[in-house]
Amino acid sequence: MLSQQELKQQAATAALEIVGEVAGPDVIIGVGTGSTADLFIDGLARFKGRLRGTVASSERSAARLAALGIPVLDLNDVEYMPIYVDGADELDGRLHMIKGGGGAQTREKIVASVADRFVCIADESKLVERLGAFPLPVEVIPMARAAVARKLAALGGRPALRDGFITDNGNVILDVAGLDIVDAPALELHINNLPGVVTCGLFTQPGADIALLATQQGIRRLVRQ
Ligand code: A5P
Repeated sequence: MLSQQELKQQAATAALEIVGEVAGPDVIIGVGTGSTADLFIDGLARFKGRLRGTVASSERSAARLAALGIPVLDLNDVEYMPIYVDGADELDGRLHMIKGGGGAQTREKIVASVADRFVCIADESKLVERLGAFPLPVEVIPMARAAVARKLAALGGRPALRDGFITDNGNVILDVAGLDIVDAPALELHINNLPGVVTCGLFTQPGADIALLATQQGIRRLVRQ
């Protein structure tokens, strides 16, 4: 029986195979944040010299890439990336996701938006029928914390300030439990539209293009229809 760590490694390795397919001297890869993305980063070291570089979705991932000697580029200098590789906290059959367990969803969404394909890597336990058991992380400008919390409570959620956590953008995170997420795309738009919200952790516009889900029987590949 493979451990969760081994399953994460299996998913990261599957994404590295895709890197092998697209690698080239001008190619830039978008890199996510989290424990599964960390394993992907470690494996990227073997592509040094075969890629132009990476764009990181957090200071944490940028530091890990730099420590391995992998070039990290400023997104403002990058027009195209064939893939963005990242984990998820939850994923449904439409490849909609909840992300932001590490509080990096804003930069994750930005970097992903410049990439051609979002490759989600996770162990199969992240696949759910309906999103929402994982509290939805919402990045909020500090002065709007209480106002946004009231609006999220009016939507039926139970927002909790993530204690002692400041995002790479200098903001706070409200983790919202108890949301009944029937229409994830509509909820994503609604929450992102609340004044003071920077980015909510729903990723549906679009979600992932490919999910590489590690199972005890090997990789299960889901492709967005
Ligand atoms: C970071 O903000 C998140 O979006 C992560 O991508 C997500 O939490 C998955 O992390 P793990 O790979 O650690 O489960």
